[in-house]
Amino acid sequence: MCGIVGYVGDEDCANLLVEGLRKLEYRGYDSAGLAVLGEKGLAVVRAKGKLSNLEKRLGEQPPRGATGIGHTRWATHGKPSDENAHPHSYGGVAVVHNGIIENHLQLKESLAKSGHKFSSETDTEIFAHLIHDEVERGLGLPEAVRAALKNVRGTYALAVVSENHPGMLVVSKNASPLVVGIGDKCNFIASDVPAILAHTRDVIYLEEGDFAVITKNSVQLSDLAGQKLERSVRRIDWTPTMAEKNGHKHFMHKEIHEQARALTDTIRGRASIEEGDVFLDGCHLDKKLVERLSKIQIVACGTSWHASLTGKLMIETLARLPVEVDLASEFRYRDPLIDKNTLCIAVSQSGETADTLGSFREARTRGARGLAICNVVGSAIAREADDVLYTHAGPEIGVASTKAFTTQLAAFFLLAVRLGRLRGTISQEQGRAHLQALTEVPLLVERVLKYEEQIKQAAYKFSQSRDLLFLGRGPQYPVALEGALKLKEISYIHAEGYAAGEMKHGPIALIDENMPVMVLAPRDSATEPGVNYEKILGNIHEVRARGGRVIAIHSEGDEQVPRLAEAAIPVPQTNPLLMPMVSVVPTQLFSYHVADHRGTDVDQPRNLAKSVTVE
Ligand code: M6R
Repeated sequence: MCGIVGYVGDEDCANLLVEGLRKLEYRGYDSAGLAVLGEKGLAVVRAKGKLSNLEKRLGEQPPRGATGIGHTRWATHGKPSDENAHPHSYGGVAVVHNGIIENHLQLKESLAKSGHKFSSETDTEIFAHLIHDEVERGLGLPEAVRAALKNVRGTYALAVVSENHPGMLVVSKNASPLVVGIGDKCNFIASDVPAILAHTRDVIYLEEGDFAVITKNSVQLSDLAGQKLERSVRRIDWTPTMAEKNGHKHFMHKEIHEQARALTDTIRGRASIEEGDVFLDGCHLDKKLVERLSKIQIVACGTSWHASLTGKLMIETLARLPVEVDLASEFRYRDPLIDKNTLCIAVSQSGETADTLGSFREARTRGARGLAICNVVGSAIAREADDVLYTHAGPEIGVASTKAFTTQLAAFFLLAVRLGRLRGTISQEQGRAHLQALTEVPLLVERVLKYEEQIKQAAYKFSQSRDLLFLGRGPQYPVALEGALKLKEISYIHAEGYAAGEMKHGPIALIDENMPVMVLAPRDSATEPGVNYEKILGNIHEVRARGGRVIAIHSEGDEQVPRLAEAAIPVPQTNPLLMPMVSVVPTQLFSYHVADHRGTDVDQPRNLAKSVTVE
């Protein structure tokens, strides 16, 4: 959690830091601040709340200086306040930090005994004190930071500047992300690439334990012991405008509309209809390896967990291999049954989610092979995996995940076809049919977007509801869970997703005219209504019989479901395993328009952060 940005060069950097922080606000927005080193020494400006508060405080004449660090905070230790905002400074040393220092209380106590006074409740502030003491003892800044780090236990991406060392940034990373951007007579650091993309596309992803001393002309990498390191510079092909809103009111809206493009990018170059097979760059799955597998274990959180539930259906149906799906936060501490015949798949948009990373490591320690389905290239989970399947969705800025979900589903489908072909559970002919259907999905998603006005009207109609139930069966059950998560996180309406068949075991007691029910009721396929469709028709009748109001998502051309619903949203038909990529889109737009109508902060809902790097 938290976003860090930094610059060292020849230009006054306060505005550049603010612009960088704007791209990182998705990582937390409890406070923001910056520290700039100039002719007048160190200037620190901080403000509780969003970046706009910091901008107001900086006013027309922000502090001048060509070395600086900035921070946007998601609170862990200490409430959101001016005092707890980063940078934390002490005696001319300023520090920004993303992570948690586990032994900060002991360190604080011993520093207090030697006369240190603290001005915040954070764990971070101890760094400024420790480093200052080392500088006072005569160490240079790099050595002082190294010495301080020896005392701390925990996770960090850390950036430090000191009045005594103008023109220098010292950074280190352990479990929280940090990239170094290479400029022309200037260099940058950031928690994530969009923060510096306007200035450079050449970046170095720091690894665990990396330490860097950065000046305008050099980046010296070493480990914590001072051993020199080499890391390759990677060129990023995301353009700065990809990280902008492109005329949409919110990032979430833009990202919903980007899904057809994003899906095409996920599939491109991987699905060969001619061969009825899939080529997964970055995955080294061959027949021998796959035949050895006894099961697949998936770990994920939130939306990625919902995608994984559908992924399980895809893999079990097409590759006939048992799949377990765990919430990453539960998996890690339940002594799971994993061995070298297990393939563990970690699914994560950010690739930085602490629970997912932790459980992935746990599975790998127990001998599992590790495959990552990630969006962010070079993220922690991707770096630790044996195999990586990038979703290529592009930057997802809205805290509510949308295109990450649909592209994860496409990645799972590709993987399922590949595994099916390797295990001989699907023929070349079947592979061709599946991949042909997959390549048509982006067009179907485009078609759903055409129903936006209709979806918006339904959203406005139900926008003042207190509660809402989402029901689905089979492949539509994870979509119901995802629909409910989306609605609650951005509109703050209480919502639950249920397997429609479970309704009679409890939730049906809630149904009355004040509990609208969104029912995911597409036909199972173009050729037959199917058992899920038949059964969910029955569930709709059960809801109506108890005075419930139905919003239905149904197949284009279906006449039965719309007749039973107060609002009906059509979706084009595809095969059942691909249908979630299509049917989830109206649930995303519904939630978006409900939230927008209610005037909530759609892209940065309260209490949430995009990337959850704490357990
Ligand atoms: O980056 P990840 O996919 O690992 O993130 C997992 C969850 O934190 C994330 O999906 C979260 O639930 C979103 N806010 C959902 O919209």
